[in-house]
Amino acid sequence: MDQQSYEKKIVGEKAAEYIEDGMTVGLGTGSTVAFTTKKLAERIKTEGLSIQAVSTSHATSELAKSLGIPLKDLNDVKKIDLTIDGCDEFDPDLNGIKGGGGALLFEKIVAVSSDKNIWVADASKSVRRLGAFPLPVEVLPFGWKHMFGAMEDKGLQPKLRMSGKDPFLTDSRNFILDCHVKEIEDAKSLAKWLNALPGVVENGLFINIADQVLLANNDKVDVITR
Ligand code: A5P
Repeated sequence: MDQQSYEKKIVGEKAAEYIEDGMTVGLGTGSTVAFTTKKLAERIKTEGLSIQAVSTSHATSELAKSLGIPLKDLNDVKKIDLTIDGCDEFDPDLNGIKGGGGALLFEKIVAVSSDKNIWVADASKSVRRLGAFPLPVEVLPFGWKHMFGAMEDKGLQPKLRMSGKDPFLTDSRNFILDCHVKEIEDAKSLAKWLNALPGVVENGLFINIADQVLLANNDKVDVITR
């Protein structure tokens, strides 16, 4: 296992310790939180935890089902006690970019429906300022070139995400425009500007959402709290 995969494993597994008996848990998407999901399944079996989970993507639902974790539709739970998710970047204020795996829309809906959000991050995810990781923006396929044009005019250097020869499709069958901003000066106003564009479904800036980040630091896990 390479260093980055090892870091994903230690933070992912550590996060499963934050889950308590009786909780409704939001399960994020990506390779790091997959370690949390697997560890949670282990705890359910060995400790007999009574847990229900809400998933943030088709991929996570499939993994959770294969491991026997009871899943609930978000509409069928009153609230989520704790959501654990990965991130693509986070800054010192614990604001972040998500959506590298294309699951930003459901991830954001689940996150804002949760009492607490913990992100699990390998060392590469910690940045001084957001933007080196291309910012994913989910858009409707209808008229996407016009949204693309508006983002281009604003200097965001969008690129249509592809999957082979076809546009990548999200779980909601939308497109993703990845914006190569490099350094985001004012994340809050950029998020507002993007979401005000008709046809933009959601952007990958997660502001004031994470309460804690579990960050890999060599073979230790640092807990950073907002
Ligand atoms: C999914 O759309 C993303 O928000 C992921 O949470 C993010 O890309 C982290 O992925 P890894 O854990 O695979 O690095």
